[in-house]
Amino acid sequence: MTGVYQPRGRFITFEGGEGAGKSTQVRSVAIFLERKGIDFVLTREPGGTSGAEAIRELLVTGSPARWDSTVEALLNTASRRDHVERVIRPALEKGRWILCDRFLDSTMVYQGYAGGIQIADLERLTAFAIGTLKPDITFILDIPVAEGLARTKRRRGHENRFENREDEFHEAVRIGFQKIAQRASQRCVLLDATQPEETVTHRITSIIQEKFLIDV
Ligand code: TMP
Repeated sequence: MTGVYQPRGRFITFEGGEGAGKSTQVRSVAIFLERKGIDFVLTREPGGTSGAEAIRELLVTGSPARWDSTVEALLNTASRRDHVERVIRPALEKGRWILCDRFLDSTMVYQGYAGGIQIADLERLTAFAIGTLKPDITFILDIPVAEGLARTKRRRGHENRFENREDEFHEAVRIGFQKIAQRASQRCVLLDATQPEETVTHRITSIIQEKFLIDV
């Protein structure tokens, strides 16, 4: 037998409501992996390919009433299909790691728990689009709604379609993520995002070290 054993890359996702600090944490984890010599791709959803970024523009701009939850689920899933097939799956197969700012749990929460679509319908749609692919670990950043929204007001440009939803929607998003963290407790880690940025980063990188990098 010939051939060198090449482990499949690790698939790590970051989730949470608005202003929870996901993007900052993804960047800090990227620096950590760089120092460890890990080959990774930093990406996001909706987005991550040129086609998926075009779909993102449709989703995150305009008034909240521009699309209903069903259209949002279809657009997010279409963009995910493109992203998975062109970027995520090929990278994992080559042994590269993926750091992804939002993934499937965002659809389950924003369009499902908060948006009113049945979770079973979203599961069928997902199976059709991407099969059974799942992250190896998901970090869910939890923050009170008012605090998160106050953070986004300080930085946000034109991508504010979801931030402009009513407070009840954002509360439902927070509860939805907490529910996922509980139901998928093997895969998900719920983190208190009101803690200092460095504390949250340290917790995340310690978990990654322990789970995936014992020897590095
Ligand atoms: P971002 O601001 O974290 O980049 O995410 C863009 C917005 O898209 C955010 O408000 C959450 C929303 N979203 C969904 O509603 N469903 C999804 O499946 C994804 C990936 C994002």
